[in-house]
Amino acid sequence: MQDLNGKTAVVTGAASGMGRAFADRFARAGMNVVLSDIEAPRLDEAVADVAAHGTGVVGQVTDVADADSVDELGARALDEFGAVHVVCNNAGVAGSVRGGPLSVADWKWVLDVNLWGVIHGHRVFLPMLLEQGEGHIVNTASMAGHLPGHSAYTASKWAVVGITQGLYHQMQAERTGVGVSCLCPGFVATEIHNSDRNRPEAAAPSALSAPTPEDEMRRAFMAEMVTSGRPPAEVADMVHDAVTDGRFWIFTDLALVAALAEKHDSIMENRNPAPPSFLDS
Ligand SMILES: NC(=O)c1ccc[n+]([C@@H]2O[C@H](COP(=O)([O-])OP(=O)(O)OC[C@H]3O[C@@H](n4cnc5c(N)ncnc54)[C@H](O)[C@@H]3O)[C@@H](O)[C@H]2O)c1
Repeated sequence: MQDLNGKTAVVTGAASGMGRAFADRFARAGMNVVLSDIEAPRLDEAVADVAAHGTGVVGQVTDVADADSVDELGARALDEFGAVHVVCNNAGVAGSVRGGPLSVADWKWVLDVNLWGVIHGHRVFLPMLLEQGEGHIVNTASMAGHLPGHSAYTASKWAVVGITQGLYHQMQAERTGVGVSCLCPGFVATEIHNSDRNRPEAAAPSALSAPTPEDEMRRAFMAEMVTSGRPPAEVADMVHDAVTDGRFWIFTDLALVAALAEKHDSIMENRNPAPPSFLDS
């Protein structure tokens, strides 16, 4: 989609971090924006900031894990602006970074938000884009969607990479006019390391997963990597350009991408995988 001016974007997880930056970037490109998030007070703040660019901007409290809530988001967007053109399925949570077994509730929370959130986004918005023969879907996956990890987060992001690429091939083969991008960030300076703030009561950590000292070290390492990551506004520029240029992959950290080569080499040579080299650093 080359001309975004006057069109409409919907962004989930828009009260914080990357989603907020995407909303801001699309408003600066002249788009109306529907910001959605589960955190109401921060969503109000983000809406007020983004509205300063002078385009149509509204907020809709949404739980992307909940089918009805995403249905309501779609209806609100159509009601406000009559059409939707760019959809960023971006809301996400980190879940536990613990080494021990995760509870069923932990797995369910992360998969419900990170994977079902994207599935609901496709289910609700894709028919709108197909009907108008124009639009673009950007799914926020992660480098964790390419690299090994024994966590619900990794499982959710591998799944998002898979269905996003599948959707891209389908849209191309059927010449629908709908573009698709898969955003695979490395570390970006957001609040993702504090995503337990949105942990539902049903997913309260189980006694089984009481954090060990190693878990605490892992948590501190992740927080350090995230807070020293790329500014979200830089990623928002990359996302904007991928939409206007029709580019599928959006990688924010080429050093981590190099680790993918190791994975593919081990598959081609049929050898057991070595740990990704970035884990040595
Ligand atoms: N920051 C990183 O280093 C990094 C790296 C790779 C991928 N990602 C992915 O980027 C996306 C955006 O996260 P971020 O880094 O900006 O973190 P963030 O915590 O700053 O923003 C995530 C937003 O999602 C919202 N959210 C959480 N659960 C929700 C739900 N059920 N329904 C609707 N909204 C919900 C949060 O309230 C928050 O505003 C996520 O999918 C995350 O997995 C982040």
